[in-house]
Amino acid sequence: MSSVLILDFGSQYTQLIARRVREAKVYCEIHPYNVSASKVRELAPAGIILSGGPASVYDQDAPSPDPAILEMGTPLLGICYGMGIITQSDGGVVEKAAAHEYGHAELVVHENDDLLAGFDLDESTVVWMSHGDRLEAMPEGWEVIAASSNSPYAALRKLDRKRYGVQFHPEVVHTREGRRILENFLFRVCGLEADWTMENFIETTTAKIRKQVGRGRVVCGISGGVDSTVTAALIQKAVPGQLDCVFVDNGLLRKNEAGEVRAFLGERFGDALIFVDASDRFLDALEGVSDPELKRKIIGRTFIEVFEEAAHSPREGKASASFLGQGTLYPDVIESVSVNGPSATIKSHHNVGGLPEHMKLDLVEPLRELFKDEVRAAGRVLGIPHSMLWRHPFPGPGLAVRILGPIRRDDLEILREADAIFIEEIRDAGLYEDIWQAFAVLLPIHTVGVQGDDRTYDRVIALRAIVSEDGMTADWFRFPPEILAKASSRIANEVHGVNRVVYDVSSKPPATVEWE
Ligand code: XMP
Repeated sequence: MSSVLILDFGSQYTQLIARRVREAKVYCEIHPYNVSASKVRELAPAGIILSGGPASVYDQDAPSPDPAILEMGTPLLGICYGMGIITQSDGGVVEKAAAHEYGHAELVVHENDDLLAGFDLDESTVVWMSHGDRLEAMPEGWEVIAASSNSPYAALRKLDRKRYGVQFHPEVVHTREGRRILENFLFRVCGLEADWTMENFIETTTAKIRKQVGRGRVVCGISGGVDSTVTAALIQKAVPGQLDCVFVDNGLLRKNEAGEVRAFLGERFGDALIFVDASDRFLDALEGVSDPELKRKIIGRTFIEVFEEAAHSPREGKASASFLGQGTLYPDVIESVSVNGPSATIKSHHNVGGLPEHMKLDLVEPLRELFKDEVRAAGRVLGIPHSMLWRHPFPGPGLAVRILGPIRRDDLEILREADAIFIEEIRDAGLYEDIWQAFAVLLPIHTVGVQGDDRTYDRVIALRAIVSEDGMTADWFRFPPEILAKASSRIANEVHGVNRVVYDVSSKPPATVEWE
């Protein structure tokens, strides 16, 4: 299957370029701008897209690719900074523009026989600009194929029709016909075919798993979340009878979750499912612990112990596993190009990636190439029900980071009840899938209330619901007020020990999604 290489120069839109290419059913990979020429030869892409980036190509240490990559004869499309790189390497001159151009611009098309096929000549189309530099002198052997009022060289090509540059961003939705431009590059310029489909992905991935695993056994930690469920389903399809799925009840799951997930997984994976009820072990280990990072460490460590015991006590007649199935996704794999230095650790996220060396398990990561919505699409093809594929994300440490302060068993019950009411109201309002994540948090304070003729001194529940693309940034969800009113009154009336409900109106940043 042919592919496209995206060279990342640190643009905030690099992942969007990849999304658009894959939506056109073409496989692509993002690599940092300084990837080696030999690696690129190995990938043998049919086209290379150079992303935008925050630097200026005329800066002393401007990020630039190995020149050999540009000379391979592979068709190139440079976007914004990427266009500067290509044109400068051909003798063009990029300089600081007199005025920054940011936002919508009208693009007038002069040539419509390849990159801009399908556009009317001399008609204008809206594109999205975001740049402070612009090309001031065209390299020799190039021609303009579209211009805007501020960018006379808004789109250009080399006469050999192997190199293209666009000053605007075809990958963002504000560029009305951006999808068409990228598709023209893929199908007309590079001669690619739309052959990246989920059925295709599943077929090639299961073949890869079979080759990697041979007759060995694979163990998978499974939480009932989308990523681990689809990972296990792919492995089971590839090597049926060689998989063990370990589902651990850590005592920190939501109301009825352990039972429901266990029932679903039991039905789907049959004998492959190993269920471990380790609630007491986790809750005992967490007793009296308030510090959020310590909670995470204890939960991570206990999980590894429990998982290792389950993985190392193979069922009768079966060898122990030598492979670990893991639901790593593409955004975790992309080596991000950071222009501001490494980012600080805000919260240490725990996952099975931290398994001890001595377990000596080789990783099987069938989702390494996928974005989240592609994982859902794969899940759909594998017959996993919609309700499982669209569950909100749930953190590994579970309710432990939603009970502020030490975790008591009766507090877990209060939180579970309140959370279940909130989610039920969201579902009843038909809003569950409009929201990235919604949950209740139990605060460690008492406030005064009144119930009948009596004064109460009870706990406070905070409700949080957010919209987000990837969990990295988030905004609070704007509920119709009557939904919050109903959730609030039900929680205060139905959950014993709670007399006040508040709604969290913080975005991320400055807040985080979870309260701990
Ligand atoms: P924060 O709170 O960091 O959350 O803004 C971003 C996303 O990550 C989830 N989250 C976690 N997931 N282990 C996990 O597996 C963790 O320790 C953890 N902490 C936060 C959170 O639910 C949100 O989706």
